[in-house]
Amino acid sequence: MAFTARPALIVMDEPTTGLDVSTQEHVLQTVRAMCRNYDCAAVYISHDMAVVAELADRIAVMYSGRIVEIGSTADVLANPRHPYTGRLLLAVPDLEAKRPMVGIPGHAPSPMARPSGCAFAPRCPLADDACMVAPPGATEVGPRHTVCCFKSDQALPTVTPRPTPVRTALTVSEQPVLKITGLKAGYGRNTVLQDIDLSVYAGECVALLGESGSGKTTLSQCIAGLHHEFTGGLYLGGEQLASSSFKRTKEQRRKIQYIFQNPYESLNPRRTVGDLILQPVIAVRGRVKNGREIVATALERASLRPDHAMRYPDQLSGGERQRVAIARALATEPDVLVCDEITSALDVSVQSSLVDLLQQLQSEMGLTLLFITHNIALVRNIAQKVAVLEHGRIVEFGTVEGVFDNPTHEYTRSLIAATPNFQLPARLTTDTVTLQAALATQPKASTL
Ligand SMILES: Nc1ncnc2c1ncn2[C@@H]1O[C@H](COP(=O)(O)OP(=O)(O)OP(=O)(O)O)[C@@H](O)[C@H]1O
Ligand SMILES: [Mg+2]
Repeated sequence: MAFTARPALIVMDEPTTGLDVSTQEHVLQTVRAMCRNYDCAAVYISHDMAVVAELADRIAVMYSGRIVEIGSTADVLANPRHPYTGRLLLAVPDLEAKRPMVGIPGHAPSPMARPSGCAFAPRCPLADDACMVAPPGATEVGPRHTVCCFKSDQALPTVTPRPTPVRTALTVSEQPVLKITGLKAGYGRNTVLQDIDLSVYAGECVALLGESGSGKTTLSQCIAGLHHEFTGGLYLGGEQLASSSFKRTKEQRRKIQYIFQNPYESLNPRRTVGDLILQPVIAVRGRVKNGREIVATALERASLRPDHAMRYPDQLSGGERQRVAIARALATEPDVLVCDEITSALDVSVQSSLVDLLQQLQSEMGLTLLFITHNIALVRNIAQKVAVLEHGRIVEFGTVEGVFDNPTHEYTRSLIAATPNFQLPARLTTDTVTLQAALATQPKASTL
């Protein structure tokens, strides 16, 4: 529709966010061909570095309402000169999971409370007093490559990521925590899922990967008791679960918690964070005396501050909202956490800090995760096992290394082929040697 009026310029605001890789690939090819054929300029807004690297001629990096770096794609990606650009690239998940994703500590200032100097200074490892006084002007650092930073000539200091937590030895039980057998689900006459068999064991993270419309949300909602139209077996710790969450026992409801994709719609705007966290606890346990304590523990686990309890959702950033959703889910001390595309509305640095958090919780609490996503790089970084869903059937299931290194199904191969791979610039990799060292000491998923 946008192209039919033969525009000179077309603005695309995250057109592929939320789409799976094959659909994304199709959209990107169309955009590329249409721009070339109609001689049309395009501004493509995205937080997906791999897509940007493949599609754009020039990149403008924005931070807190200003363009902090702009240049040709090759220049910006090979030689990022703004510390924010550098750190953003380090947060991109690696398709081969050979380096960890490193988030950026802190968060962007609210537009109402921007610092008087450089807006990135409070999070910048290079910042000094001069950076706090006035925002830096644009400096030319190469042909058509401009940066707004007083320190653009300095290299980014080495980043040492927190090593991935070592998993405590889990009691390997013969019986899976969650077992699905011969599940068939749909909407009216439309059958969406068929012959689903899946077993998830305590403490593991199983990723559910599949293209848009393949039935990922339907399956996770069946598990959480939010979608009732299904037949087949669904067992939690050996006990069969009723299809509707209303017919499940309070204990069964407590044990499975669900986190929705969109943190902007999943929290009631009229309740404070403290109330939101307590709500499911009261629902499963009745009145509790130590409400404050429960809220404080849940906030701490989700890396939020105690004063967040008094805030309303609209006073939080997207990443903080998603942390509240995680805190709320954790407050009931669940066994299984179902995460339905919880990072797709968020940028790579927030995504990286959430993944970090989930990994930590998994190791500390022995949490079992069902992680739904269409991002293969993310699967490689968080999950130990992966189930590939195509048109409502699981076509491949196995360990992450096994499935991605030797995909046996044609559909898995096509998903991998359609995923744009993002390589870190050599300069960043050599400057961040500790990343490699830290990674070498990480336990392999197979030691589980
Ligand atoms: N309420 C509904 N009524 C009828 N059909 C539905 C309904 N919700 C989903 N569907 C259909 O069920 C199929 C699977 O949908 P589902 O939301 O589970 O896909 P998904 O894998 O989660 O996709 P996405 O990656 O886009 O979130 C789709 O074909 C969709 O059109
Ligand atoms: Mg979905």
